[in-house]
Amino acid sequence: MIPTSAPKTLALAGLALACAAAWAQPKPALLNDKKAFVADLLGQMTLEEKVGQLRLISIGPEMPAPQLEKEVAAGRVGGTFNSVNRKEQRPLQQAAVQQSRMKIPMLFAYDVLHGHRTSFPIGLGLASSWDMDAVRKTARHAAMEASADGIDVTFAPTVDISRDPRWGRTSEGFGEDPHLVSQVARAMVQGFQNGSPAKPDSIMASVKHFALYGAVEGGRDYNIVDMSPMRMYNDYLPPYKAAIDAGSGGVMIALNTVNGQPATSNTWLLQDLLRKEWGFKGVTFSDHGAITELLRHGVAKDDAQAAELAIKAGVDMSMADQVYLKELPGLVKSGRVKMAVLDNAVREVLGAKYDMGLFHDPFRRIGKAEDDPADPKAASRLHREPARDVARRSLVLLENRNRTLPLSKSARVALIGPLADTPIDIIGVWSAQALPAQAVTLRTGMAKALEGKGQLLYARGANVTEDKAVVEYLNFLNWDAPEVVQDKRTPQQMIDEAVATAKQADVIVAAVGEARGMSHESSSRTRLDLPESQQELLKALKTVSVATGKPLVLVLMNGRPLALNWEKANADAMLETWFAGTEGGPAIADVLFGDYNPSGKLPISFPRSVGQVPTYYNHPRLGRPFTPGKPGNYTSQYFDEPQGALYPFGHGLSYTQFEVSDVQLSGATMARGGQVQASVTVRNSGDRAGETVLQLYIQDVAASVVRPVKELKDFRKLMLQPGEQQVVRFTIDEAKLSFYNAQLKRVAEPGAFKVQIGLDSQAVKEGSFELR
Ligand code: BGC
Repeated sequence: MIPTSAPKTLALAGLALACAAAWAQPKPALLNDKKAFVADLLGQMTLEEKVGQLRLISIGPEMPAPQLEKEVAAGRVGGTFNSVNRKEQRPLQQAAVQQSRMKIPMLFAYDVLHGHRTSFPIGLGLASSWDMDAVRKTARHAAMEASADGIDVTFAPTVDISRDPRWGRTSEGFGEDPHLVSQVARAMVQGFQNGSPAKPDSIMASVKHFALYGAVEGGRDYNIVDMSPMRMYNDYLPPYKAAIDAGSGGVMIALNTVNGQPATSNTWLLQDLLRKEWGFKGVTFSDHGAITELLRHGVAKDDAQAAELAIKAGVDMSMADQVYLKELPGLVKSGRVKMAVLDNAVREVLGAKYDMGLFHDPFRRIGKAEDDPADPKAASRLHREPARDVARRSLVLLENRNRTLPLSKSARVALIGPLADTPIDIIGVWSAQALPAQAVTLRTGMAKALEGKGQLLYARGANVTEDKAVVEYLNFLNWDAPEVVQDKRTPQQMIDEAVATAKQADVIVAAVGEARGMSHESSSRTRLDLPESQQELLKALKTVSVATGKPLVLVLMNGRPLALNWEKANADAMLETWFAGTEGGPAIADVLFGDYNPSGKLPISFPRSVGQVPTYYNHPRLGRPFTPGKPGNYTSQYFDEPQGALYPFGHGLSYTQFEVSDVQLSGATMARGGQVQASVTVRNSGDRAGETVLQLYIQDVAASVVRPVKELKDFRKLMLQPGEQQVVRFTIDEAKLSFYNAQLKRVAEPGAFKVQIGLDSQAVKEGSFELR
């Protein structure tokens, strides 16, 4: 780990200043004035050197290290990504600051999403905690671990609102709600950057994917996005804005189109909105190969036009793409692209490097060779305690009939299922440098919890899927070490073993769901149910359960909402664990055996079927809404299944019970610029201490445009002892009532507002007041 103590930091800074002349051409005196420093540097650069700064190269797949070193020395590279160790980065940085003419340091980027060496829960899991301190803590640890490996910048957080679980990257984001996702986005940026991306143990955040990536048509990855501006402004854009307001130094541009123009060539998006309207001052990164893809989108006829469109739109760094290198010099020489346009992009790249502290000390995250960890993969470098703590907070208790959970530690437990013991799955996708071998599976976690008391029996029970084509797809990128390893036995043999195992136990715990690769980039699904092999297994286990009275508990591991009708009807208890990370196994065991009382809440609705998607709770109001209890024709509904989500947004049970009183409002009217306090009393009426999340929703009763049925505006996570009660007050001001109207002006319109407070988005207590 790089030292962070104040005296050492000061000493480093002093040393950096003394050596600055050797690292960069400008006078050291300018080093404390970003604008002057960058301008001075820019003024000395050749056209080729400028273009070089815009190149972000993937080490390995795109260019092997020795060639890369030569390119860097020649001043033709601005940064790399996917190099994750100081030994690998040091020679590249040396080539940059010792051999290249301008001595401009490189930046080293990586996808650090939910941890670096320690894997924390995936995005959906983090959001399920509704605990911003916990979320911030994960990003902080990720930054400490990544910076200690020489990484300067992460391509995160992923804040794409997702309301279509078919989209595989739903796993990576934080759910369906603009307010919650914005809160998480802010906390992640704060955690990564810790006040300044220049700190040696900070990494710069690059919020992604700008914009609207989660709204790809049909949930099919890389598909188009076509959306009204009002919906963009009210629902999909706020999280990017929140991350930027929190100081995200970078923005990664999405691969999709936005209303007919790829984001990568979208001047409205990258100039008018991002720079002018939002005042973003940092660097933009293209996504992988996105500039070349402008040809395939059919908006550029050749590479030259692709480069021209991208640079003019405002794509600063080009990722894994040769087009800028090849085309920009000619475009500038011919006058098709003005030097000033190129300079704008280079200025942002240099500015970002300045902000990361790289001009002050290019080796601030690489350190000295003698301080390199002997073994970068050493288990001692992990942060297991916070990983377990956050993982516990991310688990959502969906169902708990007859108080099946928690289980007794002296029980004989049959743990069955294809996800019970696969460390690769529990760390989730985008797992950075987390090693499956260092992850603790559910099987190991439960065995440890039962040690010396009860007994753990185990059977795999089923493969994740028996569909060969799916397995092949999931293993596509990993032929050497396939991620999904099939058990060679027949499905029946596996089920027979599982049934025999279940019969010997007091309780059956089935760990079912998705292989991690099923919820990933380019992993869109047409179905949202469990694969058939697992459904068959569950049916067999249910038969045992019915015949013997042994409860059936489902532990779900998946990266998207699933359609769980049968499971809801047949399981005695159901715990959604997403992919819970390196310490996932012990964390889940903590909840199963009652060492931790679950407090997670769903950040996304669970549909009943794929045909019902999208199922988001905050949908716009309708002229003919379905009215529960009043079935009939000519209302908005699907006639062949019940309406509404199977599990609504905000849902999540506890081992204790909470009672929420009626809503008290401080007044029946609110003057302009004024406030109304909405309060409820929450009481823990059960017999154990527990946390819950109180949620505040507001509905604008009549507005100039159609508004959502309700919108989350605030929430509070609170801990209550048995019998304890607490008054929780939410302050409602005009900001909470305002929205973007048809002219895209943010307004709070006079009239009535409904206030709803509850423990999920549906079971709420209601009050109302009027804005005058
Ligand atoms: C993904 C990005 C990621 C980049 C670099 C792309 O395929 O869309 O989210 O940051 O690869 O790994």
